[in-house]
This record gives sequence, C-alpha cells and structure tokens, in this order.
Amino acid sequence: MPTNREAYFEAIKLGVPKPVVVFALCEINDFDYLGLTKCFDEEIKNYALFKESMQRYIDGEMIEYIFNRSYFLQLPLYVDKNVLIPRQETEELVLRTCRLIETYFKSNNLAIADVCSGSGAIGLYLAANYPMSKVYLSDYSKETIRVAKKNAENLNLDVEILKGDMLTPFIESNIKLDVIVCNPPYIEDESTIDEKTWKQEPHLALLAKPCTKYYEQLLINKDNVLNECYLIAFEIGEDMKDLLEPIVKKHCPNAKYSFEEDMYGKTRYLFIVNTL
Ligand SMILES: C[S@@+](CC[C@H](N)C(=O)[O-])C[C@H]1O[C@@H](n2cnc3c(N)ncnc32)[C@H](O)[C@@H]1O
Repeated sequence: MPTNREAYFEAIKLGVPKPVVVFALCEINDFDYLGLTKCFDEEIKNYALFKESMQRYIDGEMIEYIFNRSYFLQLPLYVDKNVLIPRQETEELVLRTCRLIETYFKSNNLAIADVCSGSGAIGLYLAANYPMSKVYLSDYSKETIRVAKKNAENLNLDVEILKGDMLTPFIESNIKLDVIVCNPPYIEDESTIDEKTWKQEPHLALLAKPCTKYYEQLLINKDNVLNECYLIAFEIGEDMKDLLEPIVKKHCPNAKYSFEEDMYGKTRYLFIVNTL
C-alpha cells in the first residue's frame, strides 16, 4: 500500500488539482488537513478507493459528489446530486448576515428562515451559531428536504424543515420571522452555466425565468410572514442589481437596502433592513 505522499504525487502527475487531492486524502483517511500533514508518510487507508475517486474526478465528476461531502464554513455536510454544492460566495453571504443580525437585533432569540435551503448549509450554520433562535429551512424539492434533514440529524441541530413554494409554508402555518436568508435559483440563460454544473447539479436549484422571479415572489409576500423589524439577505447574480433595485423600491418602500460586493468585487448580495 503506498503512503499518502506517494498517492498525492501520483494524482498530481495525472493533473488533478492539489485541493482536490488533499480533499480526497482527508476523506479517505478520515483526517482534517492537519491530520493529513502529520500522517503524510503513513500508508493510505484505502488506495483502491483513492484511485477510483481520482479516476471519477478525471472523468468529470465533482469531488464533493464522489465523497458525498462538502464543507460550509467548516460545517461538514452530506451532499448528493439532489442538492447544489454550497459555494464560497454563499459562505460570505452568511458571514455578512451574521454581522447584520448583530447590528440590528438586540436579542439572539430570533425566528430565522433559510428559504430555498438545499443541503441546509445556510440555515444549519445559523442554527449552530444562534442556538437561542428558532431556525427554519424550506425548499420546494422533497429529495432536497431529505438531504437537509439528514444534515440536521448528523449535526444534531434543532431546526424545523418545511416543504413548499417560497414563503407559502410559512404563510400556511402562520409563522412569523425576523430574518430571511435566501439563495434562490437565478440563472435565466442555461447556456451561461458551465458544463460540469449543468450535467451534475439539480436544474431546479439553478434556473429561474425571469431571473428575478423568486426575489419578487418573496418580496410580494413578505408582509405575511415578517415581523415589523426585519432583515432579508439575498444572494444575487452578478448582473442583477439594475433589475432588482426597482423591485425592492416597489415592494419595500420604507426599508433600507444595500447591494454589496463579494471578495472578487462582484455585486452578489442584497440586504434589506427595516428597523423600528
Ligand atoms: C441556488 S440553490 C441554494 C441551495 C442552498 N441554499 C445553498 O445556498 O447552497 C436554490 C434552491 O432553491 C430550491 N427551489 C427552487 N425553486 C423553489 C421554490 N419555488 N420554492 C422553494 N425552493 C425552491 C431548489 O430546490 C434549491 O435547493
């Protein structure tokens, strides 16, 4: 059996990117990055699985789906092809949302919803960080809900998971919210989606026609679920600001809003706040 070091260089020679090889070695050995560093010259735990996973990666499969594993701000999540693999931009959305929660709400005893929750990444991170708050996850797809439930159980996080179209399950159950975080589908033109994503990730998580559809749907219905003082945090497509601004002005005439850039300088977030 080769060592982790030998297996690592074998995959690098085949052209597999370093972070992907490290990810695979950590998963196979059940190590974190530091653990792998310490045991780099020990035998790899399962060389056959390593070779198979590297081949599947070379053949085009996403490494997260190969191992059914993704990390969201260090939170280990089960993922499969029913859910979108959480993105780095979404990690930034959540960190910015936490800062705004701390700015605008005095209490940590909030009702928070992750609408369009997918794997549950956003809502589960918030549940882990705001244990005094009630956190809801909601999604339209029952397969996706199954994944979110599995993640909530694995992480032992107490959240309520609802199924339905955008805010409908909250309206039907008369649930009132302080914070909504939402990363809805927003790609209008499927030809702009890269081939790997299009072939493997769920189309329900990606496509919206028009691209503003789910933002507008949520804002039209927001008064049925939101308390007087509220925060809405959206991830948006990088070219959507001009399309979304008139919609925000129309449906939230008295609220403060800001479009914000991600770490690459692209406008990727919309925050809407109503304070008393
Ligand atoms: C872009 S993904 C976001 C997933 C996850 N929140 C994340 O950030 O990784 C969008 C999610 O919206 C869900 N979705 C699509 N249409 C929906 C609808 N009408 N109502 C609720 N959820 C919907 C999809 O199933 C998918 O899980």
